[in-house]
Amino acid sequence: MTTAQLTIEPASEHVGAFVSGIDLARSAEPGGLGDETVAAIRAAWAKYGVLFFRDQNISPEQHIAFAEHFAAIDINKFFASVDGYPGIAQVLKEPDQEHNIGGGWHTDHTYDPIPARGSILLARETPATGGDTHFLSVGAAYDALPDDLKKTVENLEAHHSSAHVFGAQSKHAEDIGDRFGNSEAVGGATHPVVIQHPETGRKLLYVNAAFVTGIVGWSTEESDELLTRLYQHIVEGGFDYRYQWEVGSIAMWDNCSTWHSAYNDYPGQRRLMHRITIEGVALSAA
Ligand code: SIN
Repeated sequence: MTTAQLTIEPASEHVGAFVSGIDLARSAEPGGLGDETVAAIRAAWAKYGVLFFRDQNISPEQHIAFAEHFAAIDINKFFASVDGYPGIAQVLKEPDQEHNIGGGWHTDHTYDPIPARGSILLARETPATGGDTHFLSVGAAYDALPDDLKKTVENLEAHHSSAHVFGAQSKHAEDIGDRFGNSEAVGGATHPVVIQHPETGRKLLYVNAAFVTGIVGWSTEESDELLTRLYQHIVEGGFDYRYQWEVGSIAMWDNCSTWHSAYNDYPGQRRLMHRITIEGVALSAA
């Protein structure tokens, strides 16, 4: 395949792009998608934060082969996997379940010392209506911070944890029950509040309400006040794009430069997604 067939069109002002003219099933063929095409996708992924592909009814093997063009698979410690494919996490909501996986703004795996570089989510079953995923750019959010806040967040670090989300005593464990396992694998990590994108060098706000437990060295009160101000700025700044799924749609997001949140507005319907998360690199402060 040549890159001449690839079309990449921005989805919104700050985040996301639609990629067409590509059949991801070719990922599993000898030679895969080809170096030039992979390089074009990698560059667009870094630039736009999330790439959307339509009509990719690929097999689990093709999904894995596509992901491995970019990095090794980072197996999620807590989600059930697809039968026979430990590298593919199942993101499932059954009609009788109330709570969904991934509802609420977050970035995947930030509780790990080296967080995942990105995720490739493939829609297998979609509800008749609802179940969109919202994405936003934390690079655009950083750029738009008022100068006083830019100064405040410089050189700060935040602590991230999975214990309150996936631990045995967590609210999620109570609400979502047996869809999460392995609660003994919970842990945490400290990361700079402003990181540099590993490929573009862009400054990014690297905190999220799901996993951050506080600013290192600050009191709970001070920390909550700053984080609330940052989260409000990030969510309300118009740095977002809401993606509507169809069976065979893919979203490939950059875990350094975006947040995402899955809508839970389809009671009584089933939604099944397959997610592959890929390994990251050590983060650097900006
Ligand atoms: C996730 O947070 O990884 C799941 C997102 C979604 O199901 O739309």
